Amino acid sequence: MSNLPDTAKLGKNGQLEIGGCSCADLARKFGTPLYIIDEATVRNRCRAYVQSFRQSHPNTEIAFACKALCTTSVVRLVASEGLGLDVSSGGEIYTAKKAKASLNHAYFHGNNKAEDELKFALQSGVGRMVIDNFDELNRLEKAAREIRKTANIFLRINPGIEAHTHEYIKTGTVDSKFGVPLAQLDAVVQEAKNKKNIQLVGLHAHIGSQILDVQPFVDETKLLLDLIDKYGLNELDIGGGIGIPYLENEAVPALEDFARQIGDVLKNRPEIKLILEPGRSIVGQAGVTLYTIGGIKDIPGIRKYIFIDGGMSDNPRPILYQAKYAATIVSKASQPRTDKVTVAGRFCESGDVLIKDIILPKVEAGDTLAVFCTGAYNYAMASNYNRVGRPAMILVDNGKAALVVRREAYEDLTRNDLC
Ligand SMILES: Cc1ncc(COP(=O)(O)O)c(C=O)c1O
Repeated sequence: MSNLPDTAKLGKNGQLEIGGCSCADLARKFGTPLYIIDEATVRNRCRAYVQSFRQSHPNTEIAFACKALCTTSVVRLVASEGLGLDVSSGGEIYTAKKAKASLNHAYFHGNNKAEDELKFALQSGVGRMVIDNFDELNRLEKAAREIRKTANIFLRINPGIEAHTHEYIKTGTVDSKFGVPLAQLDAVVQEAKNKKNIQLVGLHAHIGSQILDVQPFVDETKLLLDLIDKYGLNELDIGGGIGIPYLENEAVPALEDFARQIGDVLKNRPEIKLILEPGRSIVGQAGVTLYTIGGIKDIPGIRKYIFIDGGMSDNPRPILYQAKYAATIVSKASQPRTDKVTVAGRFCESGDVLIKDIILPKVEAGDTLAVFCTGAYNYAMASNYNRVGRPAMILVDNGKAALVVRREAYEDLTRNDLC
């Protein structure tokens, strides 16, 4: 199926396996809810991005958007594949340092970076500071001056390109909190060029996430190319990557096609450095979350709810974006699907519904549910709502499972309470 990790298969007795490990065994050994990340899928996606983009435009850097999934182990993994990093907070920079990733190839984003974060980034050797607005430019100059550093910067522009995606994650429209509006760009570029301690090297834009159409990226690249030519710059950063198939057989553009169309815009311009910052499409499909089904509540003629031991605190995307997910019962993955159910979380919000009306093999209390495509913006956006600890995370590969994030215990929840 198109929405599973690359190593997913049906093993003994039709049971779901990922990375050569039985999901039922993983649930027994590590408990649930449990985030599983398939190492091979992450590596395959990193390699596919690097190869297809370098083939169509050799002067390309792929930087993993840490916001999608930022743990020391995942950062170390993508860095070992030669990817740079898109970071958007002091905490992500700190994690990258702990992972011993090179920050030379890091791009620091955000619309309101604090002065201490700017200094931390400069002192840590972050390669490019992506400046969102005029005030931030001034703040960066002050920070750089005070610590006697020169900051290499990109200006983030608001390209006014509307990509077809969910409204809450649409960032490239004219009315947006992100980026310098085109009408103000001449003035901000001039100001950046006049500043000591600041070196303007390129432009950046990000038109949204989970975009399933290549054309908006092509338009964005053309616009950025015109602008960097106008201002005599050499680097352009087109932001996040292509969307992923959350549901079985959901159509997504092929990566090679995406790369070829962007490469065509930059044909005959080998001197231009292209940067792309995929997050979701690197780790999204590598992730599967396991839950234990507790109660089942059948309201005849209305709906049959199955209750899981997690929900909106480990995966807030359905309640935030009405995101859709696919799932199966790990020990019945090869059985016919006959049971129409709604997967509801354990949290005190009636909107805490992970999947509405999904048809599963016959569901019983105690079954382990696997929800697919949960590698991106799940753990990264998780909370402690209702004072529930965040789940553990394991990395699976070739029949081995490594615990990379431990499950939060009650003591973790009260650690910062001072009295
Ligand atoms: C500036 C920037 N770059 C990259 C990304 C990653 O996007 P995606 O996960 O869709 O590849 C985002 C996500 O919102 C972003 O804001």
